[in-house]
Amino acid sequence: MVISGVLWYNFNMKILGIETSCDETAAAVVEDGVKILSNVVVSQIDIFKEYGGVIPEVAARSHLEVMMPVVHKALTDAGCSWDEIDAIAVTHAPGLLGSLLIGTLTARTLAILHDKPLYAVHHLKSHVYANWLLADVQNSVSRDRTSSRPSSRGSASCALGSSLRELPRNTLSEHRPAFPLLALVISGGHTQILYMPGHNQFEIIGTTHDDAVGECFDKVAKILGLPYPGGPAVAKAALSGDAKKYKLPHPKVNALDFSFSGLKTAVLRAVQKEVGVPISCPSHKLKELLTPKQVADFAASFQKTAVDILVEKLEMAKEQYPDIKSLVVAGGVSANKALRDSLPEAYFPDVKLSGDNGAMVAAAAYYEIQSGVKPTDPYALNIYPRISIN
Ligand code: KG4
Ligand code: ZN
Repeated sequence: MVISGVLWYNFNMKILGIETSCDETAAAVVEDGVKILSNVVVSQIDIFKEYGGVIPEVAARSHLEVMMPVVHKALTDAGCSWDEIDAIAVTHAPGLLGSLLIGTLTARTLAILHDKPLYAVHHLKSHVYANWLLADVQNSVSRDRTSSRPSSRGSASCALGSSLRELPRNTLSEHRPAFPLLALVISGGHTQILYMPGHNQFEIIGTTHDDAVGECFDKVAKILGLPYPGGPAVAKAALSGDAKKYKLPHPKVNALDFSFSGLKTAVLRAVQKEVGVPISCPSHKLKELLTPKQVADFAASFQKTAVDILVEKLEMAKEQYPDIKSLVVAGGVSANKALRDSLPEAYFPDVKLSGDNGAMVAAAAYYEIQSGVKPTDPYALNIYPRISIN
């Protein structure tokens, strides 16, 4: 329903979200930015674990093969015909050029074919809005926010002030983070702290000078001989490791910014030292020299250092922005259990929604619409492989 051009509001607004920015082909139908009616994700992990990383051309081809079946399944799972879809949303930035092209060309074609408004969404914005989604409406709205450990989505029993602790329970709106908020966005390509005074308003207050934290997990996994993607593999190995075994440095970076490339190199040097080889020994040779115990200890020590760095910066950000009412964590690395345990006051997406998916794209588009953002021209929509959130 369109009301006088500015605010396009519709109860039971169903948005088809399409995401192909990296190596997941995903589509989902979400109602009113919150309720997931379907969420289909086809991952290319099986292809890329043989190579230890994503090959952009292969990723694009793989998206092409499964894109339409994924969209079709998203509609079928949601029990929706095209008539019932109110809008299409797609990731147009940032990401791999070929991957973004497949998703946006698909969305543009479908928008023209079915005469639907089209919304182009920034990938980091989508990750943030995964925190507004209910993975399962019934279960999620009845979760106890005062419990000390959230089972999936974050609890709001926290150190941010009594107002959060006293939130009413079991209402649909209750699970939504309150503004102003700080969002820590941590993925394979980004590490940023965002200040959000309200919906669809983003100010970057901290960013990485080099590697993203997810990239660092992936690179450390390679050094340790753990499979791709590195984040989950390091987290698993860390479970049986001693996080105090190896002392790794915290980078000296200004204010709320990050740097993770030094940490990766510190792990490399510590491993070389531990196994008794010179620093000229290539990293791919190290895994054969490490015992399973050493791998677990390095994984645990590295994970603890990375988590501590993220938590320290968030603490600094909280001090600098005392007006904030909630903390939100988003992006693939937000699946990390050690980080979740270290930030019990923060909102985290359901683990299933931490990585790339179409539902978060639909949720972000819904709040863009609520903020008065106009649809984009499907004949002119462009992709931006490297563009900031604001
Ligand atoms: O958001 P995402 O799925 O894709 C990008 O937008 O980059 O994030 C992927 C990143 C990878 O670096 C992956 O290793 C990391 O998220 N990751 C994790 C965990 N699960 C995924 N890092 C640490 N712990 C995890 N459990
Ligand atoms: Zn992502």
